[in-house]
Amino acid sequence: MTAGFDAKHALQVDGRVVIVTGGGTGIGKVYSTRLAEAGARVVIADIAGEEGEAVAAAIRDAGLEAISVPTDVSDPDRAQAMADAAEKEFGRIDGLINNASMMSVLPRQSWLKIPLEEWDRVMAVNLRGMFLCCRAVYPAMERQGFGRIVNISSSRFWTGQPNRLHYTTSKAGVIGLTRALSREVGEAGIAVNCITPGFTMSETQAASTSTNYSTGRGDRRVFKRDQVPDDLVGTVIFLLSDASGFITGQTFNVDGGESMH
Ligand SMILES: NC(=O)c1ccc[n+]([C@@H]2O[C@H](COP(=O)([O-])OP(=O)(O)OC[C@H]3O[C@@H](n4cnc5c(N)ncnc54)[C@H](O)[C@@H]3O)[C@@H](O)[C@H]2O)c1
Repeated sequence: MTAGFDAKHALQVDGRVVIVTGGGTGIGKVYSTRLAEAGARVVIADIAGEEGEAVAAAIRDAGLEAISVPTDVSDPDRAQAMADAAEKEFGRIDGLINNASMMSVLPRQSWLKIPLEEWDRVMAVNLRGMFLCCRAVYPAMERQGFGRIVNISSSRFWTGQPNRLHYTTSKAGVIGLTRALSREVGEAGIAVNCITPGFTMSETQAASTSTNYSTGRGDRRVFKRDQVPDDLVGTVIFLLSDASGFITGQTFNVDGGESMH
C-alpha cells in the first residue's frame, strides 16, 4: 500500500461541522438532510426559522446531529451570530454551503419591470450575504488551518437565461467572489469552490414554476429527465471531503449536460 492518500475514506464527511445557509427549505433542506446522513454535524441557517427548526428536529429524531440558527444572511450581526452559535455548539466549523438565495420568490419578468428595491434586496442576500457568511466563518477556519466553502451559483451564468436579470447577475457575481476569495484564503488552508446547478425541481421551484417554463428543458440536456436536488448532493460532498483537497477557485456545472464548458 502507498502512504499519503486514504482512498477508502477520501469522500467521507463524517464528523465535519457544516453550515448550510437556506437549509430549511428547497434544495438546502436536501443538502442538510443528506449531509447529516453522511455523518456531518449540520448547522441550518435559514431566514425561515420554523422550517429550519423542523429540518433540524427531523435530523435529530433520526439520531443524527443538527441545530437550527435562524439567520438573515444579509445582516452582518446575524451572520456573525450564526458562526458563533455553530462554534459554541460543535467547537469548530469545517464547511460552509452558501446556498441561501432569493430565487423562487422572484417573479420572472422583463428587466424593465424590476423594482429598484427588489434589485437591491437580491444583491444584499445573494452576494453581500455570501460575503458576510464567508467573513463570519473565516476566523474559525483560519485557526483550524482548514475550511471548505461551497458557493451556490446557477447554470444561468452559462446560458444567460433572461427574465430574472438581478438574480442571474448576482449568480455571476458568485463566481467572481469564489475565484478572488480562493486566492485570499488559500494560505489558511481554506478552499472556496462553486457549483452551478441547472433548473432543479426543488419543492419550492416546483411550486413557483409553470409547466410552460419547464417544458422542453429536458430536450436540451444530455440526460433527458428532470434535475432533482439529490443530483447536486454528490458534488457538495466531494467539495467538502478530502477527495477535493487540491481544488479551489473552481466552478462545477451540474445540469445533466445542458451547458458544457
Ligand atoms: N432550483 C433551481 O432550479 C436552482 C437552479 C440554480 C441555482 N439554484 C440555487 O440553489 C440554491 C437553492 O435553490 P432553491 O430552489 O432551494 O431556492 P429557494 O428559493 O427555494 O430557497 C432559498 C432558501 O434560502 C432561504 N433564504 C432566502 N433569503 C434568505 C436570507 N436572507 N437569509 C437566509 N436564508 C434565506 C429561503 O428561506 C430558502 O430556504 C439557491 O442559491 C438558488 O439560487 C437553484
